[in-house]
Amino acid sequence: MAVTRILLWVFTFILSSHCSCTQMNNSTINLGSSISAGSNSSWKSPSGDFAFGFYPLVTGKYLVGIWFDKISEKTLVWSANRDDPAGKGSSIKLSRTGQLVLRHSNGTEVVIYNVTSTDSASMQDNGNFVLRNSSSGIIWQSFNFPTNTILLGQALVMGQKLYSNANDTVDYSIGRFKLEIQESDGNVLLKAFHFSYPAYWYTATVNNGNVSLVFNKTTAFLYPIYVEKNSKAYNMTSAAPTPIEDFYHRATINDKGNFQQLAFYKGNGASQWDVVWEAIKEPCTVDNICGVFGFCTSPDNKIVNCTCLPGYSPRDPNIPSKGCYPNVVMEFCAPNSLASDFTIERLDDSDFPNFDFANLAKIEQTDEDGCREEVMNDCFCVAGVFYRESHVCYKKRMPLVNGRRSNPATNNMVAFLKVPVENDNLDRKDKKESPSSAVILASFLSCSILAVLFAAIGIYQHPWAQRYICVQLQPPPKRKPVEINLKAYSFQDLQEASNGFKNILGQGAFGTVYSGVLTLEDEEVEVAVKKLERVIERGEKEFLTEVQVIGLTHHRNLVRLLGYCNEHNHRLLVYELMQNGTLSNFLFGEEERPSWESRAQIALGIGRGLLYLHEECETQIIHCDIKPQNVLLDNNNTAKIADFGLAKLLMPNQTRTNTNVRGTMGYIAPEWLKNAPVTAKVDVYSFGVMLLEIIYCRKHMELHPAAESAEVEYTILTDWVLSCVRDGNLESTVSNDTELLSDYKRFERMAMVGVWCICSNPTLRPSMKKVVQMLEGTVEVEVPPLVDAQIF
Ligand SMILES: *[C@@H]1O[C@H](CO)[C@@H](O)[C@H](O)[C@H]1NC(C)=O
Ligand SMILES: *[C@@H]1O[C@H](CO)[C@@H](O)[C@H](O)[C@H]1NC(C)=O
Ligand SMILES: *[C@@H]1O[C@H](CO)[C@@H](O)[C@H](O)[C@H]1NC(C)=O
Ligand SMILES: *[C@@H]1O[C@H](CO)[C@@H](O)[C@H](O)[C@H]1NC(C)=O
Ligand SMILES: *[C@@H]1O[C@H](CO)[C@@H](O)[C@H](O)[C@H]1NC(C)=O
Ligand SMILES: *[C@@H]1O[C@H](CO)[C@@H](O)[C@H](O)[C@H]1NC(C)=O
Ligand SMILES: *[C@@H]1O[C@H](CO)[C@@H](O)[C@H](O)[C@H]1NC(C)=O
Ligand SMILES: *[C@@H]1O[C@H](CO)[C@@H](O)[C@H](O)[C@H]1NC(C)=O
Ligand SMILES: *[C@@H]1O[C@H](CO)[C@@H](O)[C@H](O)[C@H]1NC(C)=O
Ligand SMILES: *[C@@H]1O[C@H](CO)[C@@H](O)[C@H](O)[C@H]1NC(C)=O
Ligand SMILES: *[C@@H]1O[C@H](CO)[C@@H](O)[C@H](O)[C@H]1NC(C)=O
Repeated sequence: MAVTRILLWVFTFILSSHCSCTQMNNSTINLGSSISAGSNSSWKSPSGDFAFGFYPLVTGKYLVGIWFDKISEKTLVWSANRDDPAGKGSSIKLSRTGQLVLRHSNGTEVVIYNVTSTDSASMQDNGNFVLRNSSSGIIWQSFNFPTNTILLGQALVMGQKLYSNANDTVDYSIGRFKLEIQESDGNVLLKAFHFSYPAYWYTATVNNGNVSLVFNKTTAFLYPIYVEKNSKAYNMTSAAPTPIEDFYHRATINDKGNFQQLAFYKGNGASQWDVVWEAIKEPCTVDNICGVFGFCTSPDNKIVNCTCLPGYSPRDPNIPSKGCYPNVVMEFCAPNSLASDFTIERLDDSDFPNFDFANLAKIEQTDEDGCREEVMNDCFCVAGVFYRESHVCYKKRMPLVNGRRSNPATNNMVAFLKVPVENDNLDRKDKKESPSSAVILASFLSCSILAVLFAAIGIYQHPWAQRYICVQLQPPPKRKPVEINLKAYSFQDLQEASNGFKNILGQGAFGTVYSGVLTLEDEEVEVAVKKLERVIERGEKEFLTEVQVIGLTHHRNLVRLLGYCNEHNHRLLVYELMQNGTLSNFLFGEEERPSWESRAQIALGIGRGLLYLHEECETQIIHCDIKPQNVLLDNNNTAKIADFGLAKLLMPNQTRTNTNVRGTMGYIAPEWLKNAPVTAKVDVYSFGVMLLEIIYCRKHMELHPAAESAEVEYTILTDWVLSCVRDGNLESTVSNDTELLSDYKRFERMAMVGVWCICSNPTLRPSMKKVVQMLEGTVEVEVPPLVDAQIF
């Protein structure tokens, strides 16, 4: 990304340092010039107002940039490498052949400008850095590639964006807010850009053709115009300081998401940047200003005070704007959740506005108590805001964003927040189900590959045995003996059926699978016989219990268990044989890429199978190991989930696979690593990863040799998709894929479901029911919470 961005800034040249000192008023830079970071040399405009060069950062690194140079506060107005600062000793050189090269101190060279028609460069007094050809025509200028600032005489044209810095004092990389002239309609907007939803400020200069934002150099007024009519479209500045030559001017989107016009009086040494005009008068109205689960107050409307909602703690105490995470992760909708799991906290004069995806139904004609009741009784609802004047209760779900103090003078409202009770919620759950410690340990180890992971990642969480993972959440049902249609076979039966265990179909986590033929109801059927080899040695009863649970499942998208063998130390399971092998082979095998239609059907089928396991079968079954290797296809390419219900049978110390740890890890929900309770949502995560694999027909992790280097690079599918979605450019992921482009709506819907499923916070992930509804298109797919990536 950084490199592509670098490539965009087609710019630059630097006067070699010996020239810069002597030719202050000759702004022409010639081929062959260079400048190095840390040398204090820069290239100044004739008046000396602006300088171009390496701008030092507090981190000791440098940005190639342009700044106001005559004032003590050397304000950066443009930079070329904001996301990838250069180290001391780096240099920028305009080669004799006309290429501009940024050479990092580690030797890496980034060709920034590779057009040989460049003849010279100059830093102009208006802050624009221009490259000219031999007939003095401008072939590149920094004004065309603004970062977070525009200067007097500069205009922002339709489609262009300004991105705020992450932090205006210490970190100039791309931050959380953007100003944009929307290409589709000419609306000038401010947005929290990790959310693709909605603008928190706009000019409504829509649908009147081409719109530009101009910073008029004769009047120092800032305003959008309709280009065709050359008419002012909206009033921003209503008075600029005069005479304008006595001031420096800039318009910047700052790190708090405000777009401001500022002026700096040249005359006096103690001057500072004063605000001439600003878009946002109340800083808490900026979306996502305090992050997810944060709360914004600003009594003076100047300083922003970000705190956390009750029950939440800051993600980074040093950076309160980063948002908060819940002290206790709780699923209010889990079957065994209780009213005593939470309390309702009253927050006076508080609101959670402006995020439609967090809105549940609103309740009209109610009162404060009614609103509180609604929050209490609707398990999906985590907060409600009651508007006293309209008697409406607005219910919100996870994730809560934009929590803020509202102005009591103008808004008469109160919020109710569901706060988890923190007293050892986990213990309670454990006691309720009281599984034997052997089961806990077995489940814990078996479900997870944790042994390998912890060793590999160096995380050591103790105490192992206190965690209770991947056992059904409901208390073990006191089941009446159920007649199940499972046939018990003798070992000899199966030995004969499989021709003496000759024909190996595959080697899985639990043992080897052989093909065979059995006679069932007078018909010869091909079967797969799974010889469990690493199963914990438990009594016959436990094995039979598990087999019974599996045998009770009947679903089109699950591999059917036909029978079993439980004789002496032999444990075998007999399944129907799936002719078309694994999904992994189907997607990534040698054969031609399967059609989008068949892939979409498979994804939906797996979703339905998982929904059944989670919510529709008698005992909830968490699969714990959803991946393409564990999905089989029958001869109609109907997807069937395999190996479900077995997680609990695996012996400790048996690492599940000997394949690359990272590769397997790709499917594992992050909570495995966080010592947090694990629920059916782990399957949702794995499903999300697999869904993206199915959609793109690409493996979760791909290795490929990096261009022009011997190094091997990884592409992580989920990271790639997420970064494109965050940039608001999902389409770029399929730019060459005519099949997906021609069915873009469905593709987009399914990809967004995938993004929802891989939320790192399990409570944000949808249930499989919702997933299936969204895949089917019966429920709208809302915008996923893209800031969630690190909140958990
Ligand atoms: C600056 O100096 C170069 C030679 O070093 C000369 O060619 C150019 O005309 C000068 N430009 C100005 C504006 O004086
Ligand atoms: C650059 O300027 C700083 C402060 O003026 C000074 O401390 C430093 O030694 C200078 N470095 C060089 C290489 O001239
Ligand atoms: C360059 O020209 C400006 C006027 O354009 C003048 O104020 C400044 O002193 C000159 N600088 C040098 C080094 O001659
Ligand atoms: C050299 O440093 C730059 C800037 O940090 C970085 O982008 C690049 O990947 C580094 N190259 C190598 C080979 O480490
Ligand atoms: C720069 O352009 C030249 C001439 O077109 C070409 O030979 C060279 O490969 C280019 N360099 C890079 C790094 O693209
Ligand atoms: C220089 O650039 C101008 C403007 O882009 C163009 O019109 C002109 O043809 C170019 N001249 C040469 C010699 O390339
Ligand atoms: C920027 O960083 C400084 C110093 O770490 C900190 O005090 C300030 O709150 C940060 N500003 C924002 C908007 O995060
Ligand atoms: C809008 O007008 C600007 C000039 O003000 C021009 O550069 C740009 O190409 C125009 N955009 C469209 C979409 O017409
Ligand atoms: C700047 O303002 C002046 C005076 O109002 C006007 O004549 C001129 O057209 C404006 N410039 C732009 C680029 O809009
Ligand atoms: C801007 O303000 C002036 C003076 O108040 C008014 O006449 C004009 O109509 C306004 N323009 C727009 C686009 O609102
Ligand atoms: C921020 O708000 C909290 C809670 O309202 C308060 O305790 C704290 O003093 C405030 N901090 C500042 C700097 O105003």
